[in-house]
Amino acid sequence: MQEISKSYTGMTRIAPSLLAANFANLQADIEMINSSEADWLHLDVMDGVFVPNISFGFPVLKHVAALCKKPLDVHLMIVNPEKFIPEVKALGAYMMNVHYEACPHLHRIIQQIKETGMKAGVTLNPATPVALLADIIRDVDMVLLMSVNPGFGGQKFIPHTLEKVRELKAIIQRTNSQALIEVDGGVNDETGALLTEAGADILVAGSHVFKSSSPAEVIHRMRQL
Ligand code: DX5
Ligand code: ZN
Repeated sequence: MQEISKSYTGMTRIAPSLLAANFANLQADIEMINSSEADWLHLDVMDGVFVPNISFGFPVLKHVAALCKKPLDVHLMIVNPEKFIPEVKALGAYMMNVHYEACPHLHRIIQQIKETGMKAGVTLNPATPVALLADIIRDVDMVLLMSVNPGFGGQKFIPHTLEKVRELKAIIQRTNSQALIEVDGGVNDETGALLTEAGADILVAGSHVFKSSSPAEVIHRMRQL
């Protein structure tokens, strides 16, 4: 049963995070993503309230969405994410991820996201146990596990995430859920290999991709992990 995610995808999916791109020339980086083997483009929206940083919002993302040919994986690090379901839908996003810690009525928001036709993901901060997902795991399309405290790129991977991936995989298999496991923060070739071995399906990588001199090659290599 351990092989399920691998045989399902054939290879590891990679979602480069635009947070580490060159904000003075996003077009060049998006064109690199379009011509690379990247599976999705990961977009980090921060509000300075849920997390101690502000990234970019919908006026910028509209232009990103118009240029990008890959499915958009939107990660909302904001309070009251339900307010922005129409904006995320209008981008043409594939996946909308909301934080467990920001959603007291998580079941309702997950249904609302799915009603628009988008896939719905729930995100957990490093200190939030995966066991809390038992009653929602069959309703979500993906669980995004944070392997750093959200708010900044370039942080160090928290090794305990590997245990969380294994535990989450067991919950998914036990409940016959179809949820995918995505991991975000401090992911590189080394931590990425450990994560896919533990059961992760999709790896988000910001700095590791964009700070490299050959980002497309890094994406190609990570898909073999
Ligand atoms: C952090 C964001 C991440 C970030 C990852 O809050 O959610 O997506 O871009 O950056 P790296 O890969 O540099 O840790
Ligand atoms: Zn993210």
